[in-house]
Amino acid sequence: MSPFQLTRTLPEDATSAALRADVRHGLTRSPKELPPKWFYDARGSELFEEITRLPEYYPTRAEREILAGRAGDIAAVTGARTLVELGSGSSEKTRFLLDALPELHSYVPVDVSESALTGAGEALLADRPGLHVHALIADFTRVLALPDAPGPRLVAFLGGTLGNLLPGERTDFLRSVRALLSPGDALLLGSDLVKDERVLVAAYDDAAGVTADFNKNVLSVVNRELEADFPLDGFDHVAVWNDREEWIEMRLRARERVSVKIRGLDLVVPFEAGEEIRTEVSAKFRQEGVRSELAAAGMKLTEWWTDAEGRFALSLSTVV
Ligand SMILES: C[S@@+](CC[C@H](N)C(=O)[O-])C[C@H]1O[C@@H](n2cnc3c(N)ncnc32)[C@H](O)[C@@H]1O
Repeated sequence: MSPFQLTRTLPEDATSAALRADVRHGLTRSPKELPPKWFYDARGSELFEEITRLPEYYPTRAEREILAGRAGDIAAVTGARTLVELGSGSSEKTRFLLDALPELHSYVPVDVSESALTGAGEALLADRPGLHVHALIADFTRVLALPDAPGPRLVAFLGGTLGNLLPGERTDFLRSVRALLSPGDALLLGSDLVKDERVLVAAYDDAAGVTADFNKNVLSVVNRELEADFPLDGFDHVAVWNDREEWIEMRLRARERVSVKIRGLDLVVPFEAGEEIRTEVSAKFRQEGVRSELAAAGMKLTEWWTDAEGRFALSLSTVV
């Protein structure tokens, strides 16, 4: 087997069928919404990487600090031979795990962004020519068919991406992760923690406007893929903290009344001035909540590590 394989688990037209279904459903309901996975075309993946380097965006630095300190413990506890990473993006922080796992045979990054997967695969193999990298272009909310690779298996879900799923989606997702694990396997989960609202809002509304560009990128994706005419400068980026749900909401707010034509769907979507599309939630967690959601999915939290400032947590869980 060559050291880098890229497998598309869904036919290419399934991606466009899913986008069409999500856009029709999300923009004809009230309030309007779009799922966050559509941010991540090549430009969106690049913008996300830019976000991770912003002074306001602490989660990447906090998670990197924990990984740098704990990768040896994670390797010792799991002895993983295969590392599966869901929503792997650039795999930049994953290097700590790859370097710490002496018996690692295969790395299986899973992402909807083909450009992120190929970029990460090339960069990783340049330093680790012996590693088998089997990248999967796949939606991690669907049933995953993982390649054959030796166990024990460590499934990593980093970056706080769990928080982008709504509570019911999270329940289904954690159950499907549990189904990927056998006794002796483990889940490594990154969770951003509840904290001061000002710190949270700044992380999603940076002074340089990179998150605003990232948010509007979903409109560019719909314009390009579905022949729509969203005026990008007719929408403002909004980030608000929802105290009841304990999540950040990113929205796009129409500056004035506008009708958007989506020719690919034969649809006209009217917006009132001030009307919003919710484009992402980013839930923030507490240890007890994470523990009980994992338990409900049949997993037991065995380790909980935070960065020195207590902003972000990495947890390890095994099957019950
Ligand atoms: C918040 S970023 C985190 C990236 C990286 N794990 C990190 O910690 O920096 C979310 C990543 O998940 C991917 N993604 C989002 N929704 C997805 C889905 N439903 N299925 C697969 N990948 C998804 C995006 O393309 C992106 O690379």
